[in-house]
Amino acid sequence: MSNINNVLEYIDQHQTDYLEALKELLRIPSVSTKSEHAPDVRAAGEWVKNRLTNAGFEATLYDTAKHPIVMGQKCEKPGQPTVLIYGHYDVQPPEPFELWETPPFEPTERDGNLYARGATDDKGQMLTHILALEAYLKTAGEFPINVKVILEGEEEIGSPNLIPFIEAHKDELAADYVIISDTAQLAENVPAITYGLKGIVGCEIRLTGPKRDLHSGSFGGAVPNPVHELCALIAKMHDEKGRVAIPGFYDNVLDLEAWEREMFANLPFDEQEFIRYTGVKKVYGEAGYTTWERKTARPTLEVNGIGGGYQGEGGKTIVPSTAFAKITMRLVPNQDPHRIEHLIETFVRENCPDTVYLEFEVGGHSAEAVLVDSSSDGMKAARRAIKKGFGIEPVLIREGGSIPIVSTFKKILGCDSLLLGWGLPDDNVHSPNEKFSIRDFYRGIRTSAILLDELAQ
Ligand code: BES
Ligand code: MN
Ligand code: MN
Repeated sequence: MSNINNVLEYIDQHQTDYLEALKELLRIPSVSTKSEHAPDVRAAGEWVKNRLTNAGFEATLYDTAKHPIVMGQKCEKPGQPTVLIYGHYDVQPPEPFELWETPPFEPTERDGNLYARGATDDKGQMLTHILALEAYLKTAGEFPINVKVILEGEEEIGSPNLIPFIEAHKDELAADYVIISDTAQLAENVPAITYGLKGIVGCEIRLTGPKRDLHSGSFGGAVPNPVHELCALIAKMHDEKGRVAIPGFYDNVLDLEAWEREMFANLPFDEQEFIRYTGVKKVYGEAGYTTWERKTARPTLEVNGIGGGYQGEGGKTIVPSTAFAKITMRLVPNQDPHRIEHLIETFVRENCPDTVYLEFEVGGHSAEAVLVDSSSDGMKAARRAIKKGFGIEPVLIREGGSIPIVSTFKKILGCDSLLLGWGLPDDNVHSPNEKFSIRDFYRGIRTSAILLDELAQ
């Protein structure tokens, strides 16, 4: 008795409706980091809750101190495994607007892609699962396994309220595997399962020299310039080999294993294409590792933003009063985010010249790296599902991005995440002209439905 063919046929027949549904969700500007968009984040939460309810789920929207959490479940198969499907309906800010070819919240089809903020990260990918569940229930009336769903509006700000929520709803959320589509394929027609994500720690540094901007002729050379001091401080954060020069930073770093290095060396990763897509003159990074290894499995430090002094048109001859930098570090397994926070703070305090006032703040989002067992039954089921849904065997990869809640799923619920990514490396995630391949949207829905069957015993 196989329901899956009916489900897949139903999915194929509803492609146009599904694309319209995705467009509807993408029109909601659910930017979690900006308080003026809080009602939009809530509206996106309501939208997904309603879609789940209409599909036949018991779904609830829970308000939190910031953005809501949507939870649903349909657990009618005692003895069968339970999955918890996770996704996020918040998005990154769309700025700079002028670089978008079509407006970020007016989803537009172009060359087989749908362009909009959140198209791939994560509304489009998240929706593949919701729609697969819907199609399954509409055709088969029931699932082959137990299904729980948890969707949040705070992923892009580090999931501050989801972590305590999971602790508080530990029993309700118990599952064998978490299923997440919030990553990418290796390349077009090279689907991937991600078994490792980096962690993250952030901080902000502000240096103050004179108490206001001063004439650079009358005062320059006689007072400290905080922009110079900040640049010197930042320059000390890497050595000439491209390694992070914060003492102790590499202490607990889990080395790449031989099988991983070999597997990564054989990935069809095209470095020339990578250079073309990013527009860089050359690749950069820590000596002794390949570009792919540095990108996905070695810890890094990046200045995300820097400011100070005059930024307007023309010149302004001043010694600026202040300078600031926003910095994040991406972590790999066994690096403790709190310890790294402490190390960067110590480094900044010790290396900051005594000529300027220092304000140092560690930034809200901190998360541990994750590594999941790539040979579990769940992983095997995920591989079979992708093989059937895409018609292509997936590759196994690690990713440089972070999904803060994944380590909490492991710690509190004790379950591994299956990260099946439907995106592409050139989807312009967090950038202007974010897109999602419409074909992969459909293939993702199909694969998600197949996965339910593959996980059944
Ligand atoms: N979907 C991404 C994570 C991701 C990006 C995974 C690229 C694999 C490849 C997620 O939405 C994200 O952007 N996370 C943030 C978390 C941060 C704001 C705490 C990130 O990685 O910067
Ligand atoms: Mn995401
Ligand atoms: Mn993101």
